[in-house]
Amino acid sequence: MLYSLLKPLLFKLPPEVAHEFALEIASLCPALGKLSGANSSDKLSLKVGSLTWKSPLGLAAGLDKNAEALNFFANQGFGAIECGTVTLKPQLGNPRPRVFRIVDQQSLRNAMGFPNHGLIAIAAKLKSFKSELPLGANIGMNKDSSPDESIDELGTIVATLQDDVDYFVVNVSSPNTPGLRALQEKSYLTELFQELSSLTNKDLFLKIAPDLDENKVIELATLAADLKLTGLIATNTTIRADLGAGGISGLLLKEKAIKVRQQILKLDLPIEVIGVGGISCFEDIKKFWMDGGKAVQVYTAYVYQGPELLKNIQRDMLDFLEKEKLKSLNEFFMLDRKERSKLLNQPV
Ligand SMILES: Cc1cc2nc3c(=O)[nH]c(=O)nc-3n(C[C@H](O)[C@H](O)[C@H](O)COP(=O)(O)O)c2cc1C
Repeated sequence: MLYSLLKPLLFKLPPEVAHEFALEIASLCPALGKLSGANSSDKLSLKVGSLTWKSPLGLAAGLDKNAEALNFFANQGFGAIECGTVTLKPQLGNPRPRVFRIVDQQSLRNAMGFPNHGLIAIAAKLKSFKSELPLGANIGMNKDSSPDESIDELGTIVATLQDDVDYFVVNVSSPNTPGLRALQEKSYLTELFQELSSLTNKDLFLKIAPDLDENKVIELATLAADLKLTGLIATNTTIRADLGAGGISGLLLKEKAIKVRQQILKLDLPIEVIGVGGISCFEDIKKFWMDGGKAVQVYTAYVYQGPELLKNIQRDMLDFLEKEKLKSLNEFFMLDRKERSKLLNQPV
């Protein structure tokens, strides 16, 4: 309700200014988050890796890069929150303007390049967040670092934050840091994750790009299982040269992201696959469940729909449980794939 009044004003501002303004309000008045009307319920909690998400709908990385409004987002009713991308040293990112709305396609284009306050400042914010909600840190390398240096950098970030967050996500899939996506390589990732695993026993995820061919997706998914990672986050934004520099998110990413997630899920590996990219309603989540997935994250649809997104999805999930006479989502996910598909009302 509040967002429907606020949105026309926010959308008159340049996207990043609107974002900063909204984030400022959210950080100053975390209690406003409770006005979302999202109906939190124990029935929606579910296991993701070693953690219990409050619902299958998490906040994706990039929205609260500096962990400034975690309490607000917790109050909104997200099932888990991911801050970052955090880099070792603070950095400004690319020159502005670097975020663009594609309103008729419910999409965004961003070329931010990991602007963030850096490890020390963000660590201080994380320490002050006290909540049962799973909190993830999405971590990445500084723009001017080499791949070799990045292993030490990411190690330092993990060692510093490991008492303050519940899971880590290594981001080598942003299109906005030159050379970053080239690090989606077996030898580099093996060395990196061996190092990170020696520093923490927190859940570790790898976030991948949607612009990989199927062989590469299979290679990375298999590698994640071999390295005993908790899982993959699929996907980051997509490159569309025809639309300009940066990465595209939202509806224009949806089909590509679905394809990558399906390629991973059909391998049936012992890893979690957190779905992100173009998810905007319960039907999208049901489709992901049909493919074998569980938990998802949102960014762009939240920008366009605001807290109504959470309210509607949570209501639809609770309606679904009631209609199918299920006590909880955990009960639903205990069913085998065929039974789940039957309940989701689609052919197996
Ligand atoms: C403005 C903007 C900034 C983002 N920043 C990050 C980031 O710092 N780290 C990251 O891993 N993903 C980042 N993302 C990607 C999102 O986490 C997500 O993977 C992507 O937007 C697809 O989800 P969506 O279609 O729900 O937006 C960003 C996305 C947007 C739109």
